[in-house]
This record gives sequence, structure tokens and C-alpha cells, in this order.
Amino acid sequence: MHPDLEKVLFSEEEILACVDRMGRQLSADYDGKNPLFICVLKGAVLFMADLVKRVTIPLEMDFMATSSYGAASKSSGVVRILKDLERPVEGRHVVIVEDIIDTGLTLAYLKEVLLHRRAASVKVAALFDKPEGRKMEIEADYRGFVVPNEFIVGYGLDYAERYRNLPYVGVLKPEVYER
Ligand code: XMP
Ligand code: MG
Repeated sequence: MHPDLEKVLFSEEEILACVDRMGRQLSADYDGKNPLFICVLKGAVLFMADLVKRVTIPLEMDFMATSSYGAASKSSGVVRILKDLERPVEGRHVVIVEDIIDTGLTLAYLKEVLLHRRAASVKVAALFDKPEGRKMEIEADYRGFVVPNEFIVGYGLDYAERYRNLPYVGVLKPEVYER
């Protein structure tokens, strides 16, 4: 375990087993639909890479980056698009691939944008869910793990851009925030 971590919540094996289940479910549900998987950068990059390898039907990928104004570990409520999609989503069956749903503001905003652009359908695959953080009524259609209301890092999730490359997910020691 990384020395900055207090504990590991999900091991690499547990994460991959879960991603495998999600990939199989998505393969069944989107058979014949050529879905567009949209990865929300940067947190969902590792999840996206492992997920699409486990989807056995044809799909396309695109990438989007969003940012909420304000402190690094808190969502402020204002979402903006930092990097937009390459191609139009009109008529496409879209799956938003997200690392974690906390307040729900990011997803609510993204869903609205994609539906406004006339996507045929918009569903959400989120690896982690913090239901206690919710400020908007929005749920993942495909959900990996429910997590407690703690800040987690690893497997794409960062603190100040660090720890994204850890293959597992854990909670940082409090002194790491005080540095
Ligand atoms: P909202 O609040 O819009 O937030 O649902 C989604 C985004 O907030 C970030 N987030 C976290 N990032 N550890 C992180 O590294 C966490 O525990 C955490 N909780 C929320 C993340 O970027 C997510 O996409
Ligand atoms: Mg994110």
C-alpha cells in the first residue's frame, strides 16, 4: 500500500471483477446499438480503459473534460466544459463513463447538455457512488461500488493530481491534506 494511504477500500482484483460485471451487462444491453462511450476526463480514464476491454459489442469512444469552480476536494455547483466531444451525439445511444458521483451536479449538467444535443439516449456508468453527497436527484444506471462520504484516491481519482495511477482505491492519511 502507498505510504500516504490510511487504508485501502477496494483492491485491484475487486475493482476489475466489478468492471467485468459492468462490461458484461453493458454488452447485453447495447447489443446492436453501436453505443458512444463518453469518458469524463481525467478521473474516469482508468475505468474507461478497463471497461471497454470488457465490452464485447462494437462501440465508439469520445472524451470530455469538465471542471467545477472552487476548492480541489469540493464541488461548487458551477460546471463548465474544458474539453468538448469531437463528434456530434445526435441520434446516438450515449453511455457517460464517470469515476464517481458525489453531489450529482456534473452528471446532471452533462446529461442535460447531451440530451439538448439530441442524443437518442443517455445513460450513466459510474464506478463509485457517494449517495450521502447528493445535491441533485440523479442516479447511475450502471453502478460499481457505493462509498462512504470520504475523499478517495486511486484508480483515476486524484488529490492535487496525484495518486491517479494507483491500481487500487483508498483513503489518504489526514496529514497528507495538511502538507
Ligand atoms: P459531483 O459532485 O459533480 O462530482 O457529482 C463528481 C466529480 O467530483 C470529483 N470527486 C472526487 N474526486 N475523490 C476524488 O478524487 C473523491 O472522493 C471525489 N468525490 C468527488 C470527481 O472528479 C468527480 O468526477
Ligand atoms: Mg471526474
